Amino acid sequence: MASDHGGFAMKEFLKRKLENQAYKIIDFGTHSEESVDYPDFIHPLANEINKGKIKTGIIMCGSGNGAQITANKYPNVRAALCWNKEQTVLSRQHNNANILALPGRYIPFETAWEMVQLFLSTGFEGGRHLRRIEKIPQLLK
Ligand code: RB5
Repeated sequence: MASDHGGFAMKEFLKRKLENQAYKIIDFGTHSEESVDYPDFIHPLANEINKGKIKTGIIMCGSGNGAQITANKYPNVRAALCWNKEQTVLSRQHNNANILALPGRYIPFETAWEMVQLFLSTGFEGGRHLRRIEKIPQLLK
């Protein structure tokens, strides 16, 4: 998990929920409400996902945009910015998202918790969706 100050309260809430279910959390920060720069916390998490050292990430900032934009700089990262449960399920089924990005200031924490549980329990459908996600890292020449 990683966030800036805008996502800190949601990160702490979700971390407690996950730890209550015996998930082992690596917390890349931030660790307080003090104003910080989201790339300083998102890059270290995204780098670990990119290298295959961590399978799943949950990130947030105030809007979720800065966190998601930063994470998606890495070719093996598929970070999905989700605002509801339907988007969250599709991000796994169709995009095989490996990072869930959340708008820490704009959705209820309980909704975010339901979304996290769906993200962790929903599988990738493969098939035509595999062909599509394999084309994502290809750059135009
Ligand atoms: C911080 O005020 C805010 O800009 C940040 O949390 C995020 O929303 C940026 O995308």
